[in-house]
Amino acid sequence: MLNMKIFIDSGNTDEIREAHDMGLVDGVTTNPTLASKSGKVFKDLIMEITTIIDGPISAEVVSLTAPEMIAEGEAIAAWHKNIVVKVPLIAEGLKAVKHFTEKGIKTNVTLCFTGSQALLAAKAGATYISPFVGRLDDISTEGMQVIRDIRVIYDNYGYETQILTASARSPMHFLEAARIGSDVITAPFAVIKQLLKHPLTDSGLKQFLADWEKAKK
Ligand code: G3P
Repeated sequence: MLNMKIFIDSGNTDEIREAHDMGLVDGVTTNPTLASKSGKVFKDLIMEITTIIDGPISAEVVSLTAPEMIAEGEAIAAWHKNIVVKVPLIAEGLKAVKHFTEKGIKTNVTLCFTGSQALLAAKAGATYISPFVGRLDDISTEGMQVIRDIRVIYDNYGYETQILTASARSPMHFLEAARIGSDVITAPFAVIKQLLKHPLTDSGLKQFLADWEKAKK
């Protein structure tokens, strides 16, 4: 059994560096929204991330036809050996994934919302599937149920596509993803930091230090 991997979902290199220094980050996911927030040229941003994290870094294509996605994805993949080409879960995207798989280029199929979509992505050869659990919760649907469904489907047939729980918004998403056996979870730095917090840790530490000071007098 492999370790559960934690990716940071971010285009902010300061927070990627800080999370890396805490020993928490196995990889990075970005999307066009996060990349645009960074204010950096996309290639510059991705290349800077490669200097911080030695692990899979997802960089998303923004074309809508397979030939364009293939050209864009091949160019992105050539930037660095750790790049994973992120492709939307649409018919043209699956054609591009099939091509990338045949060429040995790793892919992350994104904007997945159902187990059946995940099955199609696995059949096309996706390296990672990214089901967006938070966005399902947003529309009163249990996002984590999709992770359970995909785990069963992939295990039933031995698909090697890794489940990358995405759009994680809370420590409970983490806990549940780990219980289910999601291969990877990606989350913003703020959520990763929330995992650390417990009021009894803070109050216990405060008490220990106060007692230590008293004993010294
Ligand atoms: O990894 C996917 C993620 O970036 C989407 O998160 O919070 O915008 O739904 P969110």
